[in-house]
Amino acid sequence: MPSITINGRVCEFSPGQTILQIANSHGIEIPQYCYHDGLSIVASCRICLVEIHAPNPRTGQVEPFMGGKLMPSCQQTASDGMVVYADSPKAVANQKAVMEYLLINHPLDCPVCDQSGECFLQDYSYLYGRGVSRFEEQKVKQPKKDLGTNVLLYADRCIMCTRCVRFTREVTGTSELCVTGRGNKEEIDVFPGVGLDNPLSANVVDLCPVGALLDKDFLFAQRVWFLKETPSIDGLTASGDNLWVHHNEGSVHRVKPRHNPRVNKWWIADEIRYGWKFVHSPDRLRTPGRRQYGVPVACDWPRAYDDAVGGLRAAAANGGRVALLVSPFLSCEDAFLLGTLARTIDPGAILGVGPVPTIGTDTTFPNGASPDAPNAYTIRAEKAPNARGVRRVLEALGGKVETYEGFLGALGKGTGASDVRAVVIAANAPRAWADGDLETCLGGKFVVAIDILPSRLTDRADIVLPGATWLEKCGTFENAAGLLQAFEQCIPVRDGARSEGQIALDMLAILGGADVATSRRAKVVVETTRGQVAAGATVTTPLGEPFDAGATRARMAASHASLARFTTDVSMPPAEPKASPDMAVVEL
Ligand code: SF4
Ligand code: FES
Repeated sequence: MPSITINGRVCEFSPGQTILQIANSHGIEIPQYCYHDGLSIVASCRICLVEIHAPNPRTGQVEPFMGGKLMPSCQQTASDGMVVYADSPKAVANQKAVMEYLLINHPLDCPVCDQSGECFLQDYSYLYGRGVSRFEEQKVKQPKKDLGTNVLLYADRCIMCTRCVRFTREVTGTSELCVTGRGNKEEIDVFPGVGLDNPLSANVVDLCPVGALLDKDFLFAQRVWFLKETPSIDGLTASGDNLWVHHNEGSVHRVKPRHNPRVNKWWIADEIRYGWKFVHSPDRLRTPGRRQYGVPVACDWPRAYDDAVGGLRAAAANGGRVALLVSPFLSCEDAFLLGTLARTIDPGAILGVGPVPTIGTDTTFPNGASPDAPNAYTIRAEKAPNARGVRRVLEALGGKVETYEGFLGALGKGTGASDVRAVVIAANAPRAWADGDLETCLGGKFVVAIDILPSRLTDRADIVLPGATWLEKCGTFENAAGLLQAFEQCIPVRDGARSEGQIALDMLAILGGADVATSRRAKVVVETTRGQVAAGATVTTPLGEPFDAGATRARMAASHASLARFTTDVSMPPAEPKASPDMAVVEL
């Protein structure tokens, strides 16, 4: 394999790679602004210039490359035997000059800038810049602009790397952004009457290396150094996009893409970035409920469990069937435990997968690209994360798994004839999900609804159990391409609610003989969430064993051969990032 030497380190590379790509893949720091792996190379910011020596093809002697001129490492492809210096006096002098030039008109507003703390201009200023500004003249003032639905431009912070412009040309193909003016009057702008309004628009905020492009939704919401980040998976569509969820003190503040070349590359759609707001909805169900003389009343968990198990058992004991409808918003582990619960109460229980919301057709960017193209990004028409995974798991439990229409048929739609006496509906949908037909078919049946938001189904149910959103629990989703991906718990479960897996385990424990009365004195379990610093704690008094997604996957694989891939093929989130302080920590 060919190799080059960068700052004294020998690095092997694949033919065609640029010097900067090789340095990045070997963890060698070369400053860079305009370069991005997902965009074309323009070599305009000039901070990555390096000194290169290369073997002369005629003599074999290593000589200064291109007469000793500094070359942009992001654009210069490597050749075997090159010797590259990004830390030579000449290269360092250029880095200082570029930094000084970029800071001439840059405002000193870091204390009020959202990018502060994750800004490349700040970091490089510290690493490569001068300690003192020599500029004494008036700085050029640029305007603040509203570019579109999600993005603001603070133009005087812009360093003209043009990443944002290239993104709208090369990835979305919408070309809303352009560069106007010349010299120190250069600005990013939109064309008159055409805002930045495409389904991937907010990715330009992630691309901007400084605080010029800002997310309206996150504006002044948090200082970034207070945020903890947890790896997650898109829980709103079938894309399986990899995410970082940024949260603090149990509240989610923003969602950003996590690079995965097999799935979402570097991007996510705006519907995923902003679609999590229902997690903090004030309408969330927090307290279990039951019907008392036909009137819905709040109750505690043991009472709700007791009534739910009693009602389901009674239905099965009287020769009736129990039916379970699992929504495609639930994880594979939830589906397995709920399916096991239904089959424990009634071995002939009817299992079904709830309706899968779909809007339009799959859309691939750049327009017209094949979904398999290296830089293609696809927005899925299917607006639920786990229809395939839920079906796969329920099918492994044996028997036919009904579609939504088939499930309604089993409940008596059209014929009015059905032997189903009790129905468990696990919804967990962020918006209205099942249609009025389901409600109509529930007449005369005992209904247990596990859900996160109130709906006509929870109004109709005999027992209501508040569930947890995907950001409040661990699990696995199978995306539209059949990829199984695990996700972490980001924030604690809303007070009073429980994950669907925990609800199923608790009810299984009651079926196994756990005493509900004594559960009121059950051991309190305090679970802290993962992250650089635990984001919070969930205090529960589980009747059964505490829910553990990894243990559930192992149980699934051990009990059903068709689920063996849940221990071998699940793509796990990255380990927790290690926080390393810039300065020595002093013990006080
Ligand atoms: S707004 Fe940001 S991404 Fe766009 S050119 Fe300026 S610095 Fe680069
Ligand atoms: S990163 Fe190479 S010139 Fe900008």
